[in-house]
Amino acid sequence: MSLLTINKLTSSVGAEVLGVDADRLASDDLLGEAVMQALEDNGVLVFRELGLNPQAQVEFCSRLGEVDYSSDGHHPVAGIYPITLDTSKNSSAAYLRATFDWHIDGCTPLGEECPQKATLLSAVAVAETGGETEFANSYAAYEDLTDDEKQRFGSLRVVHSLEASQRRITPDPTPEQVARWRQRRTHEHPLVWTHRSGRKSLVLGASADYILDMDLDEGRALLAELLDRATGPDKVYRHNWSVGDTVIWDNQGVLHRAAPYDPNSPREMLRTTVLGNEPIE
Ligand code: OGA
Ligand code: MN
Repeated sequence: MSLLTINKLTSSVGAEVLGVDADRLASDDLLGEAVMQALEDNGVLVFRELGLNPQAQVEFCSRLGEVDYSSDGHHPVAGIYPITLDTSKNSSAAYLRATFDWHIDGCTPLGEECPQKATLLSAVAVAETGGETEFANSYAAYEDLTDDEKQRFGSLRVVHSLEASQRRITPDPTPEQVARWRQRRTHEHPLVWTHRSGRKSLVLGASADYILDMDLDEGRALLAELLDRATGPDKVYRHNWSVGDTVIWDNQGVLHRAAPYDPNSPREMLRTTVLGNEPIE
């Protein structure tokens, strides 16, 4: 019998985990594996009003895999990164407006790092309006292609860049902004990611700039169409946050975005990331 009681939230992505409290999550050694399996099966797990404290959050994530400490320095607890548009709480807040577009974390790393395996957010403060987090299943995005499309798209390669994702929210950048974005190298990824499990997913989202060896506009139109199809309203789980909620997603198999919220809103999420070890190939 599974260790977890799970209630699916939509037919394609998201499930609520019932009957687990913060103490058990932080201390039960057996839960890690069960959570990872549930994540693989459901893409997103929701723990409502769990009230997980930052230390316990990092402890729990360390049961799921290797915690990412590379962005430390913005929060007193190692392994915690605050997601907020308030520049006094996070000096990189300006970049975070890019979370308003659909994306997969870690498609444009500094070096050759793999995309993060899983990301966990806990809500410390919520927006009065907006600020929900939305999720769509990128395995389902592949499965929903026609056989002909699966065939045709199987060999396409896509160039991803920080510049592409930043341009969507800052369409008229200064030359200095563009120069800063371009310091981050571009990455070439296949459109179809064949995972170690054998499952396939589409690698789409804000960082996807253009398709190699295809007319620029035609390639961009195809990327936009595939993203639209993957994220239609009937395919999305939208999490409406309450303080104390914890949500974790399989960053290898879902697209996500934040619904826009006022940059002056107190909304603050504490994020912990579990590193991935699966290259996009
Ligand atoms: C992230 C992210 C969305 C949100 O932390 O990677 O995209 O709703 N967050 O804050
Ligand atoms: Mn993100």
